[in-house]
Amino acid sequence: MPGVYQLSVDRPLLAEVEAARAAGIQAVLLFGLPATKDEAGSENWADDGIVQQALRVLRAEHPDLLLMSDVCCCEYTSHGHCGVLRDGVVDNDATLPVLGRVAVSHAAAGASLVGPSAMMDGMVGAIRSALDSADFSDCGIMSYAVKYASAFYGPFRDAAGSAPSFGDRRQYQMDPANVREALAEAALDEAEGADLLMVKPALAYLDVVRAVREQSTLPLVTYNVSGEYAMVKAAARAGWIDERRVVLESLLGMRRAGADAIITYHALEAARWLSEPA
Ligand code: PBG
Ligand code: ZN
Repeated sequence: MPGVYQLSVDRPLLAEVEAARAAGIQAVLLFGLPATKDEAGSENWADDGIVQQALRVLRAEHPDLLLMSDVCCCEYTSHGHCGVLRDGVVDNDATLPVLGRVAVSHAAAGASLVGPSAMMDGMVGAIRSALDSADFSDCGIMSYAVKYASAFYGPFRDAAGSAPSFGDRRQYQMDPANVREALAEAALDEAEGADLLMVKPALAYLDVVRAVREQSTLPLVTYNVSGEYAMVKAAARAGWIDERRVVLESLLGMRRAGADAIITYHALEAARWLSEPA
């Protein structure tokens, strides 16, 4: 995606984080791209995995940074699905201990919050008890509670090589037509111990953001995903829109809908624009 790069765990990572902090951003979310993918996705919980290494470096250099990490299987598995496969389908319950193990390895490496994005039923409860048993009760959970089976994830999957090698994610991600299920998913994750809830994608789902905002008192995050970003960048490059105004108006819409925090690839530019005189 324009302006978004895969970073190695040395100068490029530190430079990116330093630039973000200089612009006033106090939190980062890490996604891992393993050197090799396999059927189980074993680098996912490796002590020397790419995310674990990055967390350690950032925790040492930035003790006061809010460090968040994505917890899922699809970037690590050769088949690209978000969980463990059995007979060609994702086995929800067999995936739970894997997500717990990944979360514990991230907490051990310095994560402040883990962000499970696999959309497995019971993942928040499983991760909470895995963290507590490993003595990481202070590591929080930002749950991708309401995640739709969306076409807007395309650029991310291309960048991460994480598109499913067969089928799609509709076994575990949500039907875009359904809003009551969003409320049920959010309530379940809250009951299982989520510290923050998320709605994803953002722009086509602002009614869902509002509905979850009205149901829960937890901090609510919306994820302005890769396809949403890529469309704005493409239109801006073509000279069809005023990028700065479109980005800030879109982020404002998410905020107005009820988001307390926004995950966005526009973050660095938007933070700079917001700190400039209007
Ligand atoms: C992995 C994950 C995805 C995104 C965040 N975590 C992709 C997916 O579900 O296929 C999407 C991010 C984006 O499009 O910006 N579970
Ligand atoms: Zn996934």
